[in-house]
Amino acid sequence: MGLFRKKLKQEHKIMRQAAQAKGNLLTEYHRATPECPNPEMWHMYDSMTAEYEVLEFLRTLVTTLKPKQIVETGAFLGKSTIWMAEGLRDNQYGQIVSCELDPVVFEEAKRNVQASDVAGWISLKNVSSLEMVVDGPIDILFSDSDPSVREEEVRHFLPQMNPHGIILMHDASSHKPVVRDAAKKMQAEGLISVVFLPTPRGLVIAQKLSK
Ligand SMILES: C[S@@+](CC[C@H](N)C(=O)[O-])C[C@H]1O[C@@H](n2cnc3c(N)ncnc32)[C@H](O)[C@@H]1O
Repeated sequence: MGLFRKKLKQEHKIMRQAAQAKGNLLTEYHRATPECPNPEMWHMYDSMTAEYEVLEFLRTLVTTLKPKQIVETGAFLGKSTIWMAEGLRDNQYGQIVSCELDPVVFEEAKRNVQASDVAGWISLKNVSSLEMVVDGPIDILFSDSDPSVREEEVRHFLPQMNPHGIILMHDASSHKPVVRDAAKKMQAEGLISVVFLPTPRGLVIAQKLSK
């Protein structure tokens, strides 16, 4: 079988690894960057789910800003979706609409959301971010799908962004600068203003600029 074994899709491989870790926190192992020289100070559930400290930040951002509508792209196992929904539950206000493209991963995310006590705050869709349609203004956009589509998806949702709202783009470290460069490009075009948080995988905080 060896030679002909089908290559396991990265998302499915990490999904298995996450199941083996049984929810235990691991030391973050993404490589050091000039902006984040000690990533081992952070924690993670797995290498796809946002860093534990970033999950905490997302939940606190929700309780701080009291958003009516959060949009997330790339649910993976639903961890970030659930953590942000916990903020909505604490606020007793708002909703999160999230999407996951991969049908196998989507089913697992759906199971995790249904098993959580915040399922009522979440709408999870098996659709590409670029095809997802949401109604009304977006107060927080968390862009966390495939790095190659992040720029397109931010542009896709930008017309609906509340100008006082917050756009977050994950995986914006200088190690693989696709997302970082996309954020810089949109800033140079006068579309968004950006701040780069020096976390292990990098996090952009941006706001829509009115022309
Ligand atoms: C980095 S993971 C998301 C992690 C998750 N936000 C968390 O922190 O718990 C990226 C996910 O995006 C999904 N994905 C990739 N392209 C997508 C797209 N165009 N639309 C929606 N989901 C996508 C992948 O299947 C993968 O599960």
